[in-house]
Amino acid sequence: MKDLTPPRDSLDPIEVASRDEIAALQLERMQRSLRHAYDNVPFYRDSFDAAGVHPDHLTTLSDLAKFPFTTKQDLRDSYPFGMFAVPRERIARIHASSGTTGKPTVVGYTAADVEMWASMVARSIRASGGRPGDIVHVSYGYGLFTGGLGAHYGAEKLGCTVVPVSGGMTERQVTLIEDFRPDIIMVTPSYMLSILDEYRRQGRNPRASSLKVGIFGAEPWTNAMRSEIEQAFDMHAVDIYGLSEVMGPGVANECVETKDGLHIWEDHFYPEVIDPETGAVLPDGELGELVFTTLTKEGMPVVRYRTRDLTRLHPGTARSMRRMEKVTGRSDDMIILRGVNVFPTQIEEQLLKCAGLAPHFQIELTREGRMDAMCVHVECLGTHGAEDARAASARELAHHVKSVVGVTTRVVVHDPGGVARSEGKARRVVDNRGS
Ligand code: DLL
Repeated sequence: MKDLTPPRDSLDPIEVASRDEIAALQLERMQRSLRHAYDNVPFYRDSFDAAGVHPDHLTTLSDLAKFPFTTKQDLRDSYPFGMFAVPRERIARIHASSGTTGKPTVVGYTAADVEMWASMVARSIRASGGRPGDIVHVSYGYGLFTGGLGAHYGAEKLGCTVVPVSGGMTERQVTLIEDFRPDIIMVTPSYMLSILDEYRRQGRNPRASSLKVGIFGAEPWTNAMRSEIEQAFDMHAVDIYGLSEVMGPGVANECVETKDGLHIWEDHFYPEVIDPETGAVLPDGELGELVFTTLTKEGMPVVRYRTRDLTRLHPGTARSMRRMEKVTGRSDDMIILRGVNVFPTQIEEQLLKCAGLAPHFQIELTREGRMDAMCVHVECLGTHGAEDARAASARELAHHVKSVVGVTTRVVVHDPGGVARSEGKARRVVDNRGS
C-alpha cells in the first residue's frame, strides 16, 4: 500500500498547534457556545437553572463538569424543532436519525454549520490520505441520514470529484468502481463486505481495483476487520466517527499514517469520557461513555451530549488533538448473557480468526427455559461447504468465543448469502427473547 501521509503544510494549522493554543481556543468557544445555548434554547435555560449553573460560571474547561448532561430523550422530548437555537428560517438543512423505536431525533444546521461540517469532513478525508483531485465514491445513504450528504459536501470541499452513488444496487456499485476508477470509497464497513462479495461473484479481482483508501464508519468495526478489508482490496482502511446529534460524520477520524485511533477535531467538538453510572468525568485513558459539547454550532448546539458510545481518550500522535480509541460498542448494543457483558465486535474479532467462515454475522438471542441463549449465525466460504467442514468451523468459532469472550454460544453455519446483508448500518443483534 502506498504511503499517503498528507504533506504537513496541507493541514489546518490548528491540527498541529500546541495544546495550550488548542485549550485557549476551546475555552473561548465553549463560553460563547454555552451562552448561545442558554440564551436561545428554553431546554438549556431550564436545565442550567435547575442545576444552579450559569454560562458565566465557566472560567476553565474543567468547569464544564458542573453543567448538566443532555440525553437522546431530551432531544426526543423537544421533537421536532425545540432544540434549535436560531429562528427556523435560519436553518438551512434538517437531518434526522432513524431511531429504531419512536420518533426520530431531528437536527438542524445553519448555512455556517453546513460549511463547518464540510470543512471537518474535508479534514477527515485528507487525514485518511485523500487529496484534491481524487475521485470519491460515496456509498453512504443519502437522505435524512447524515452519512451520504455529509461525506459528499466534505469531499467537494476538499476539491475531489464526487460520485454520489448512495447505498444499494450492489452490482452497480462494482460497475461504477470499475468504470470510474475512484481513489476513495466512503461506506459502512459491513456494506463494503457486500461489495467485496459482489466483486468475487463477478469473477473480478478486488486487489486490482483503483481504490487506495476506504473511509469506514457509522457502525463499530474491529482492527481484525480492518486487516480483512485491507488484504482483500490492497487499500488503506481508516475509521471515521460521528453522530447526527453532534454533527454527522467527521467528528473524529483516523490518520492514515498511524491508524492508532481517531483524532477528535477538538477545535469544534469538546470530548469528555464519563462513568456511565455516576456521571463522573474520568481521566484520559479510562474506559467510559463519550460525551460531546459542540463549540461552534449555531443551529443546534449541544452541551454535554451523552453518546452512549464506549471508548477512551488518549493524547494526540499524528496530530495534536486527542484520540479516541475505536468504539468497541454502544451501551445499547451490549448483550448481558448470564452475567457476562458481550459486544458484537467481540464476536467479529473471533469470527475473523476462523479461516472457513465469511466475515458476515448476526447474533440471535433466544430464551431457553428461564435462561437467555445466544446463537451466532455465520456463513461458510464457498470452498468450505462440506458438512464436516461446517461442523468443524462451528466448533472452532464456539471455542474461540467461549475461551476469549467467556460465553457459551451456538453457531449455525449457513450457505454463502445466508446471513442478512445491510446496505448501510448492519443489524448485528436480533432479540427473539420476547418480553
Ligand atoms: O452514523 C454518522 C456517520 C455517518 C458516521 C457515516 C460515520 C460515517 P448516526 O446515524 O446518528 O450518525 O449514528 C451515530 O453510530 O453514536 C455510534 O454508535 C455509531 N458510529 C458512528 N461512527 C462510528 C464508528 C452516523 N466509526 C452512532 N465506529 C454513533 C463505531 C460508530 N461506531
